[in-house]
Amino acid sequence: MTGLQMSGGLSSQKTPVEVDLVIAHAAEVLTCRPASGRGVRGADLGRPERIADGALAIDGGRIVAVGPSAEVLARHTGREVLDATGRLVTPGFVDTHTHLVHDGYRHEEWGRKVLGTPGGSLASGIGHTARTTAAAGFERLRDGALSRLDTMLAHGTTTAEAKSGYGLTAAAERRLLQVVAALDHPVDVVGTFLGAHVPPPGAPREEHVDGVIAQLGEVRHLAEFCDVTCDPAGFAPAECLKIARAADEHGYRLRFHADQTGHGAGAETAVEAGAASADHLEHVTDRAIGMLADSDTVATLLPGVSYHLMDMVPGPGEEGWSDPRRPRLAERYRRLVDSGALVALATDYNPGSSPNLSMQAVLQLAARLYRLGYGEVWHMSTINAAVSLGRDADIGSLEPGKRADAVIWNVPSHEHVVNRFGANLVASVIKDGALRAPARREDGDA
Ligand code: NIG
Ligand code: FE
Repeated sequence: MTGLQMSGGLSSQKTPVEVDLVIAHAAEVLTCRPASGRGVRGADLGRPERIADGALAIDGGRIVAVGPSAEVLARHTGREVLDATGRLVTPGFVDTHTHLVHDGYRHEEWGRKVLGTPGGSLASGIGHTARTTAAAGFERLRDGALSRLDTMLAHGTTTAEAKSGYGLTAAAERRLLQVVAALDHPVDVVGTFLGAHVPPPGAPREEHVDGVIAQLGEVRHLAEFCDVTCDPAGFAPAECLKIARAADEHGYRLRFHADQTGHGAGAETAVEAGAASADHLEHVTDRAIGMLADSDTVATLLPGVSYHLMDMVPGPGEEGWSDPRRPRLAERYRRLVDSGALVALATDYNPGSSPNLSMQAVLQLAARLYRLGYGEVWHMSTINAAVSLGRDADIGSLEPGKRADAVIWNVPSHEHVVNRFGANLVASVIKDGALRAPARREDGDA
């Protein structure tokens, strides 16, 4: 039925077809559809497709038609009709990097860092969360993750990746992946095994790497992706490649935490391994930018981390930057975008470096901290993010045939979502064609 409606031209179809839902008269429909190929690169990032007085027709949880209201309404009548006058309609956000399952927070350590006391190391922070997480039961971990998914959905996220990583032992990692697999929620959850998060204290590194490899088969049914931290504070390129090759043989796709605390050849190694994504990239080199540009590995930027770790604000009494390369992130990421690399944005939700669940905040921070434009941040958070999860044929843009995952906003155009900050601007979220999350109207001039 869907195919017939899509192929029927205006003149060939006299009687409008009845569908489940029509959203009509949106001030703007932002499709995030790529002009050609997979994802959006380079100058095209800044030229999003926007339809004035736009409409969507939805049937069976899928998009049947997108276009000007006059055209869509001529061909379709909705069993339900939503009038989106004065409102923006976009694809749901795809959040490709979250450490969703954990217990306990790290606000005390962060509070000291704010006041100028040097923070703990990445490994000590992760070790802290691993201990608080180990002390929580399965149901507590599951309920915590479900409540975070509620918040994500209310802020416009319709698909989210979720990693293990706060286990640090095989048994604890298995339990976290079982929690991920048990998450029954309207937000689609994509599981990732992050056995090589940081080297656990006391255990010989080689033994840990071999242990992760030994566990790959056992948890394969619980995770689609395998992630490794290729970073001076994590694992070396040779160790990451060893895990990546074994994961590849087990049929996982690969994700990398790359070059967060320093240059660890993480991005180069991710491209060499054929990874779906290389995330963080605070210390990405020009050579790695060139390699990313020539690859299908999605470079994923995490502005919540730059903001929360105060990378771009000198601390009280700090005479110089502890690492003078960090304030130049905007310059480096502009080279990355202009090189033609596939670039995405994600929350990196976690209790240490980015306790933020909102992709709205991510777009807003990316524009301000990295000087990325309106169209750029939207494409990076939707279609390019969908490429990184291997789901761009199904989600990430408003196109006939794709899942009906859409957000109706309390503002009239996509620029407003980025230009404003601080309030939840979502009016409602449609997931698989059903109205899932009407948010309170906190900011509405639509
Ligand atoms: O920012 N390898 C990782 N870094 C994590 C930190 C998580 C944490 O601090 O708990 C990240 O992605
Ligand atoms: Fe992370």
